[in-house]
Amino acid sequence: MGDIFLELKDIHKSFGGVQALRGVDLTIRSGEIHCLAGENGSGKSTLIKVISGAHHPTKGEIFIEGSRIPRLNPIDAIAHGIQVIYQDFAVFPNLTVAENIALNRAVTTGAKWMNWENARKLALDAMEQIGAKMDPDLLVENLSVANRQMVAICRTIINEAKLLILDEPTASLTANEVDKLNAILRRLKNKGIAVMIVNHKVDEIFEIAERLTILRNGEKISTGLVGEYDRKRFVRDLTGRELLSSGYVPLPSDEEIFRVEHLGRKGAFEDVSFTLRKGDVLGITGLLDSGRGQIGDALFGIAPADSGKIYLHGEEISIRSTEDAVKQKIAYVPEDRLTQGLFLDRSIQDNTIAASIKKYFRSGRLDESAMYQETAEWIDRIGCVAPSPEPAVRTLSGGNAQKIVIAKWLNMNPALIILNGPTNGVDVGAKFDIHKILHNLAAQGIGVILISDDLSELIQNCNSILIMKDRRMSSLIQAAEVNETRLAGMLSE
Ligand SMILES: Nc1ncnc2c1ncn2[C@@H]1O[C@H](COP(=O)(O)OP(=O)(O)OP(=O)(O)O)[C@@H](O)[C@H]1O
Ligand SMILES: [Mg+2]
Repeated sequence: MGDIFLELKDIHKSFGGVQALRGVDLTIRSGEIHCLAGENGSGKSTLIKVISGAHHPTKGEIFIEGSRIPRLNPIDAIAHGIQVIYQDFAVFPNLTVAENIALNRAVTTGAKWMNWENARKLALDAMEQIGAKMDPDLLVENLSVANRQMVAICRTIINEAKLLILDEPTASLTANEVDKLNAILRRLKNKGIAVMIVNHKVDEIFEIAERLTILRNGEKISTGLVGEYDRKRFVRDLTGRELLSSGYVPLPSDEEIFRVEHLGRKGAFEDVSFTLRKGDVLGITGLLDSGRGQIGDALFGIAPADSGKIYLHGEEISIRSTEDAVKQKIAYVPEDRLTQGLFLDRSIQDNTIAASIKKYFRSGRLDESAMYQETAEWIDRIGCVAPSPEPAVRTLSGGNAQKIVIAKWLNMNPALIILNGPTNGVDVGAKFDIHKILHNLAAQGIGVILISDDLSELIQNCNSILIMKDRRMSSLIQAAEVNETRLAGMLSE
């Protein structure tokens, strides 16, 4: 590790009544890989925005290479070599790889026109430096997520980054792609560039980071070499609690809640049968194209089944549309919550009551105080970090937004709830809370179906697991009889 590149002292930031950062100190050295960890809403993105000049701290000092910068703005930050890659990468899909890489430089150097031949050379050179191989003339819209990220990284290289910050860079990458990204980050580190990454996943952090800073509730809880942490301390610092993940054991019951027989949809999946009894949490898993997600879509009527039978509490029901599903009190937490599950610009309250608005009409008028009251109760019950039911969902962190999708559906008293990847991108604390919610629902007699590719999540929370392979049901096993390695083997064998 080299000299101190960036130093933050006693940084505070508030948004109206929300204290997002409370007295954070942080140092970043050249040539180190530093991980910033914290639960959803702990202030990570806010801290990054302070470093990149996008937010001005309410109080505190920023030093770059030893000099105090009184009012850091985004242009200064870039001029000092601070580059941030946000989750959407901010690439232009309709430009080529080379254009995307070189464009930014043209903008920051104030060039009036671009020399495309030169742009291509710059791009190839940047790719060479990080060891990425892409056709510079390909349109970015045709690239995989991982390659778009490479383009974004190349762009920071040609802007002579000294500190590269990546906000959750691995959230949508496969294990293989994570390895490639790590190799690139190590190269950058060896060139003396400081790298700061935001990540929630313990294993990935331990694999790549040298130092670690943990935020909780806007405060810096600890900072140190990764070697000073084990999994237990990490989770304790992150959450402030000892999370004992005990597996879910349902009370035995014969009461049938939900059953499907030989369910299928042409081209999506075929011949799926299972029964959910009171207290059951059924897991559905499989590789990416196995058809696991399509079962959820069918049961919620998004892409309805065209063969087989569905029974709720012993009675055959028909689900041809999402209206049918909602009428039967089936709830669905979709995989892509940002586009399918939430109205981001509306308040927490509007989102929470969205699926059950009817119950708030009292003699023709909406009962505002009941809506407010019940939303406040949900916020409390699901452990959502929010000051009141009023803020727009857009201002919530990812994990907290996810809890609101779940609250929205629970508020309509579902008979069955289907969750597709409910803890993707959610931190350990929120994940623990969501799992606890699922256990409680199942215990109350609500059918719970958990579609997931997180094998430890499935084993800990389900009593049985249905494995999909090549769009067919390959087996239905008892969670207690497998471990992760065995389950992984069953998915791919
Ligand atoms: N522009 C804003 N206006 C109001 N509140 C905000 C704003 N940006 C962030 N907050 C609040 O500040 C707190 C910290 O949010 P931040 O986005 O920094 O968390 P995070 O650690 O990045 O979470 P995640 O892991 O979910 O991305 C949260 O309570 C959030 O609701
Ligand atoms: Mg964030």
